[in-house]
Amino acid sequence: MNHHVRLARRPVGKLTTTDLELVEVPVPEPGPGEVLIRNTWLSIDPSIRIRLAETTPDGYLPPLRPGDELSGLALGRVIESRSPDFAVGDLVSHTLGYREYALVGTRVQTIGGYGAPARIDAGELPPQWFLGPLGSAGLTAYVGLFEILAVAPGDTLWVSSAAGAVGALAAQLAHIRGATVIGSVGSPAKVAFLRDELGIPAFDYRDGALPESLAALAPGGIDAYFDNVGGDHLTAALDALRPAGRIALCGAVSGYDGAAPAGPPNLFTMVSKGLRMRGFRAGSFTHLEEPMRREVAGYLADGRLAYRESVFHGIAEAPAALVALLSGATVGKTLCRLAS
Ligand SMILES: NC(=O)c1ccc[n+]([C@@H]2O[C@H](COP(=O)([O-])OP(=O)(O)OC[C@H]3O[C@@H](n4cnc5c(N)ncnc54)[C@H](OP(=O)(O)O)[C@@H]3O)[C@@H](O)[C@H]2O)c1
Repeated sequence: MNHHVRLARRPVGKLTTTDLELVEVPVPEPGPGEVLIRNTWLSIDPSIRIRLAETTPDGYLPPLRPGDELSGLALGRVIESRSPDFAVGDLVSHTLGYREYALVGTRVQTIGGYGAPARIDAGELPPQWFLGPLGSAGLTAYVGLFEILAVAPGDTLWVSSAAGAVGALAAQLAHIRGATVIGSVGSPAKVAFLRDELGIPAFDYRDGALPESLAALAPGGIDAYFDNVGGDHLTAALDALRPAGRIALCGAVSGYDGAAPAGPPNLFTMVSKGLRMRGFRAGSFTHLEEPMRREVAGYLADGRLAYRESVFHGIAEAPAALVALLSGATVGKTLCRLAS
């Protein structure tokens, strides 16, 4: 039998595990052009929470309805193939996570094509890295830093949610390339993780007023802001940016889990200081996947880049993994191991 996670009811406020349910269904049979994949790793990403609301932002994937299976980036092995593109044994990344067995065909919902089934040659590397530093998280950090912000030596950069999958990579990549980096996180343990394991000074945004905490680490202001959080963090960045400063809008996690997204009231600083702010989707920059992988794999191999995972085990733990991620209880890349 196959087990998958579906939406039981729309969350009211913060997501709880009872908003999701584990369902047992028969393992599907592949039809022409389809492959059956035994999922091995599921990427737990905050953005799925956006699709659990009644409506989703224009340009994004549609909302899920109660009874729908959750989707999410995953890796798995082909165990049956009726497609000329994939052979039994291939390691494939795709977006039909949150289930043990996935029937992957041509009709996959993606944003701009990102997440379409792709064969992965992991070689000797841990395959789950292709969901983390060598996958979506790596590409997101790389694009935000080097395409959107054009971070250069001498820049002072603030990265929010800096102990998370994208943030921890972004903070370290910018540091390795010569920027002065400051991180913000939601607990003293995460401040210690950044300082002691990543070598990045950080502050706890829950401890005191955010603008003062930021100013204590960057008394002269900042040149660039990598925004994973939105709301009050974006407001503080607009105030702290020096003239001609840059902002990369990567995500707005503070508004995903039931809280009303708080827009910055100080947008006029964009005009008064000549700032530049640009949102991006990593999936629009897949041509940068290869250079990203070369650079990040090199830093992982020579030990310059530290990488932490928070791993849950089995499909039954996937709902708890998502709740933990959204509440800030995990560090680094959050994953659920579905099979060995
Ligand atoms: N643009 C793209 O293509 C793209 C692709 C992937 C991800 N993203 C975005 O990148 C961001 C990070 O994603 P990720 O996968 O790396 O997740 P993550 O940072 O590993 O996990 C989410 C983190 O958000 C923080 N958080 C939750 N509520 C918060 C709040 N109210 N204020 C501040 N922080 C809060 C928590 O950390 P603390 O304990 O520190 O609060 C939590 O650990 C998200 O906004 C995501 O949507 C964008």
